Amino acid sequence: MTAERKMRINDVQVKFEEGETVLACARRAGVRIPTLCHFDGLSDIGACRLCLVEVEGSAQLAASCVTRAEPGMVIRCHTTRLAEYRKVILELLLAERNHVCSVCVANGNCELQDLATEHQIDHVRFDYQFPALGVDLSHGQFGVDHNRCILCTRCVRVCDEIEGAHTWDVAGRGGTSRVITDLAQPWGESQTCTSCGKCVELCPTGALFPRGTSVGGLVRDRGRIELAMAHRRHESCHG
Ligand code: FES
Repeated sequence: MTAERKMRINDVQVKFEEGETVLACARRAGVRIPTLCHFDGLSDIGACRLCLVEVEGSAQLAASCVTRAEPGMVIRCHTTRLAEYRKVILELLLAERNHVCSVCVANGNCELQDLATEHQIDHVRFDYQFPALGVDLSHGQFGVDHNRCILCTRCVRVCDEIEGAHTWDVAGRGGTSRVITDLAQPWGESQTCTSCGKCVELCPTGALFPRGTSVGGLVRDRGRIELAMAHRRHESCHG
């Protein structure tokens, strides 16, 4: 006999389907868990760790976007410990590259900035790395500013999984990792880029942007991506 598929999230009882993640269950139950690398409709990779939750009986925190729901699980999403971990994660992201909101195209329209505000980050307790990073403006329509990239890889996944081009990838390891186009050629020389702009739409910060956008001028139209995702789902269901 299989156990009933029920779990508790922040004291709310939730039923789930086989294979659902804790994050998906929490969202369905109306419990908000902060995320950065997750985007509905893309595969999950557990890169940012912001979605950490406590699982009763386990000493380890779990990234809810890549943790499958199990019968009888008891999950806590909002504790003092989690709030502190999320704050540290956000501070480390801010310290790792050159996130200067006041001169960023995404100022006022940035998921990293919004989460920093939500977690009351008014200073960073870690040494800024100040890496020397470039901006690639070789593409006729878009630009990539590596100073703002948080390596969430949403651009990589949307390009591969929805557009089917797989122009983007990640090169290098650890702190020297960079998103690249094709074999690290300038974006404008890419043979595979279809210039669809899905990567730009899904970027949570100002790392990818339409050329000509001024400070704070970035406008997003995520509805366009959701439509493309629905189309892709339809295709995979009906061959
Ligand atoms: Fe789960 Fe990033 S949203 S690790």
